[in-house]
Amino acid sequence: MSDSVKLFEPLTLRGCTLPNRIVVSPLCQYSAEDGFAQPWHFAHLSAFARGKAGLVFTEATAVEERGRITPRCLGIWNDAQAEAIRPIVEFIESMGCVPGIQLAHAGRKASTRAPFVAKGGSPLTDEDAARGDLPWQAVAPSPLPVADGWPVPRELTSDDLDEVRTAFVAAARRACAVGFKVIELHMAHGYLLHSFLSPLANQRGDEYGGDIEGRMRFPLEVVQAVRAAMPADAPLFARISAVDGREGGWSLEDSAVLCARMAQLGVDVVDCSSGGIGGAPRFRSDDSGKPLTADSARTPGFQVPYARAMREQTEIMSMAVGVIIEPQQAEDILQSGGADLVALGRELMYDPFWPLHAAEALGADSDYRMWPEQYAWAVDRRQQIKRLNESSG
Ligand SMILES: Cc1cc2nc3c(=O)[nH]c(=O)nc-3n(C[C@H](O)[C@H](O)[C@H](O)COP(=O)(O)O)c2cc1C
Repeated sequence: MSDSVKLFEPLTLRGCTLPNRIVVSPLCQYSAEDGFAQPWHFAHLSAFARGKAGLVFTEATAVEERGRITPRCLGIWNDAQAEAIRPIVEFIESMGCVPGIQLAHAGRKASTRAPFVAKGGSPLTDEDAARGDLPWQAVAPSPLPVADGWPVPRELTSDDLDEVRTAFVAAARRACAVGFKVIELHMAHGYLLHSFLSPLANQRGDEYGGDIEGRMRFPLEVVQAVRAAMPADAPLFARISAVDGREGGWSLEDSAVLCARMAQLGVDVVDCSSGGIGGAPRFRSDDSGKPLTADSARTPGFQVPYARAMREQTEIMSMAVGVIIEPQQAEDILQSGGADLVALGRELMYDPFWPLHAAEALGADSDYRMWPEQYAWAVDRRQQIKRLNESSG
C-alpha cells in the first residue's frame, strides 16, 4: 500500500482499529417494523461492509419508543430488537469492518411521516392514524413546536430526564452486548439532545436550561452515563450540529466549549454536521424548511470547516461529513488536517463499493484481495479489460 494515501491508513481509537478512514454516515431507512430490523437493513448495511468501509454506522436507532422519528424507525429499546440486529453486526465484522450504532431520541421531532410517503417529514395526524400509524406525544426540553403547524411537545420533567438517561444507558449496554464496537450519540439535527443545547429550543427555567452550562447539562449527563456503561476499549462518537445557522442559535464557539467538555468525559470523535433545529438539517435545505434551491444548494465539503475547527481548537478527533463525493476530495480533507475521518451518506448509497473504487483511483492498495473473495472474478475481468485497453490504445 502507498504510505501517502491517508484515506486507507488505519486509525486506532482506544482498543478498536478502523481499517481505513471511510465511515458510513447514519442513514435512516424508515423500513423497520415496531423498531425491529428487517431484511432490508441487512441488505443495506451489508452492502457497505462488502464495499469495505472502515466503520459502518446504523441509522439513528431509537432508545425509547417515543424517541422514534417515524413509526418505521429502527429501535433498540428492548433486547429482542437488539438481537434482531446481531446478524448484521456479525456480518459487518466478518468483512473486516467495524460495526457502529447511532443512538438517538427524536425529541420534539418525533411522530412524523417517513419522507417517502405523502407529505413526508411532516407530523403524523388523524389521517395517518386511520391507516394504522398512530401519532404519539413528542417530548422536549420546552413546550416549543419545531415550526408553525407542528404539535406542541410536552416539557420533560426531572423524572422524565432520569428515564431518558436510563434509556440511553440501557440501549448502549444492549448495543455492546450484541457486538457493536462503536457508539455514536445523536446530538444533532434538532433531535432531543440538540434541542437541549440550542437556546432556540431550550427555554427551561431549571438547572437544565438558561446559560450554556445549563443547556449542556443533560446532554453531558447522557454522555457521561453512556461512557460509563461502555467497555473502556470501545470508542464513543458524538454527532453535533456545529451551528444552528439561525440568529440567536447554537454557534461554533458553543460547539468548541461542548467538545472540550465531551473530550474530558471520554468522547473520542466529534462528527460535525449542522442545522435542523427548526426544520430540515442543512445538507437537505437552507434550514428554513423550504425546498433546496440553486442558492441554498450545499457545496462539496461545506461542513468540513466545522470539523477542522473542532480538531484545531479542542483535544478531540473529528469527522467531516456532507457532500464528500470524490476520492481525491476525501483524501485532501484528511491530508490538510480538516478531519481524522470522513463520513459519506448519499454517495455510499449510490455506490456502496466507493471505498474499493477510491482505493483504485488514489493508487492505494488496489489489490483485489480487499474485495470480497467471492467477487474476485469480477475484479479480474475489469483488470483484464483495463490492460487490453492500455495495450491497444
Ligand atoms: C436518507 C438519509 C437518511 C439519514 N439519516 C440520518 C440518521 O439516521 N442520522 C443522522 O445523524 N443523519 C442522517 N442523515 C444525514 C447523513 O448521515 C449525512 O450527514 C448527510 O446525508 C450528509 O452527508 P452526504 O452529503 O454524504 O449524504 C441522513 C441522510 C439521508 C440522505
